[in-house]
Amino acid sequence: MSNGWSPESWRSKPIVQVPDYPDAAALKEVEATLNGFPPLVFAGEARKLKAMLANVSRGEGFLLQGGDCAESFAEHQADNIRDFFRVFLQMAVVLTYAAAMPVVKVGRIAGQFAKPRSAPTEKLGEIELPSYRGDIINGPDFTEAARQPDPHRMIKVYRQSAATLNLLRAFATGGYATLEHVHRWTLGFVTDSPQGHRYREIADRISETLDFMRACGIDAESTAQLRTTDFYTSHEALLLGFEEALTRVDSTSGEWYDTSGHMLWIGDRTRQPDHAHVEFCRGVRNPIGVKCGPTLDPDELIRLIDTLDPTNEPGRLTLICRFGADKVEDHLPALIRAVEREGRSVVWSCDPMHGNTIKAGTGYKTRPFDRILQEVERFFAVHRAEGTHAGGIHIEMTGQNVTECTGGARAISETDLSDRYHTHCDPRLNADQALELAFLVAEGLKKERADRARPAEGSPPAVAVGL
Ligand code: PEP
Ligand code: CO
Repeated sequence: MSNGWSPESWRSKPIVQVPDYPDAAALKEVEATLNGFPPLVFAGEARKLKAMLANVSRGEGFLLQGGDCAESFAEHQADNIRDFFRVFLQMAVVLTYAAAMPVVKVGRIAGQFAKPRSAPTEKLGEIELPSYRGDIINGPDFTEAARQPDPHRMIKVYRQSAATLNLLRAFATGGYATLEHVHRWTLGFVTDSPQGHRYREIADRISETLDFMRACGIDAESTAQLRTTDFYTSHEALLLGFEEALTRVDSTSGEWYDTSGHMLWIGDRTRQPDHAHVEFCRGVRNPIGVKCGPTLDPDELIRLIDTLDPTNEPGRLTLICRFGADKVEDHLPALIRAVEREGRSVVWSCDPMHGNTIKAGTGYKTRPFDRILQEVERFFAVHRAEGTHAGGIHIEMTGQNVTECTGGARAISETDLSDRYHTHCDPRLNADQALELAFLVAEGLKKERADRARPAEGSPPAVAVGL
């Protein structure tokens, strides 16, 4: 890689959000150990994901990205992985049907352990300790010992990620992902949901389509695509020593890939164009996401695109917008116009979670489902008005029946939050809320399709009617 990049070139740049490891020699030793471990993902898989994202950037696909805010050691159970995967597949089927396009499935999983924090320390009463930065760095308990950064946690993350990925690969190809099963689970959800009548029409149409296909001899037995699926992993490339240790030259292409996950993203707090995180990501050939928050101005975005994707490679960059429901219209149009003016090819995705976090009266961090929905609606509306493709959503979710975000068809209230509030970091959509969101996005995608199908001449102007 030219321009002075190497896997360690980030080390000479300014950096924020780094833990203060007390034992530098132990850190070095762990990084060297990791460097000798096998890759978690293969470069060819990351390239395939990039090709699929290139289709999304051309308006011929939709990106579904989601999972925990932070994975944890405590919640590493097969049931959790299975339940997440199940809801994620259900969402993907609904979206595929509605968009009539391939849905690119990317989990925030098998590596999503490092968290940026708004303050380096946390105070409880008179005691001040380092903030919890994710299980890859330190522990969540409010004790001096737990909050001490420990490099050996990186080895544990590597091993947990390998085990998670192993199970996901088995689920994706071993029969669990069979389309008819996935749809049967969704029918169960529609029957049980208090808002089920709203989703019945789409669900029934999918049933009819499957019946028709079966009658034509296309079923899981005859057709591999109906019993397997492509599933990719992603996480925030925050702890750069870990990422560097897993960065390898691909023997096929001779290019550098970060083999810790298929896709990596740069967080909203670490996207300074001349800083370490951008430096690291510019040199690896994985698909890269950039979180775009309200403080990102159009010129800086173009500078970031120039640095991270100088050749304008379709599928390379996904812009993950997370403004907050009230701020979408203030920020998104200017960013879209700058990208269009410069002729840059990107995937536009909407993270409706991180701009809509509030503190409930009861003290819990939460996100109202209505605000999440509103942010997605406005994201879609702006793209329709600008004539660009609303290419995806990026959400924090779990397959468990948690009570972390308020609202949804089961109307979780602020006082319900204490029932099952399990997240290690930000509040996630539970299984029902995630599927509900997919149905509501599906309605929007169907409208977008109807708009496109309408003959251009004499057609009414595109109006932003939301989802
Ligand atoms: C996250 O995705 O968990 C996160 C911290 O997001 P952001 O960088 O957009 O705040
Ligand atoms: Co989060």
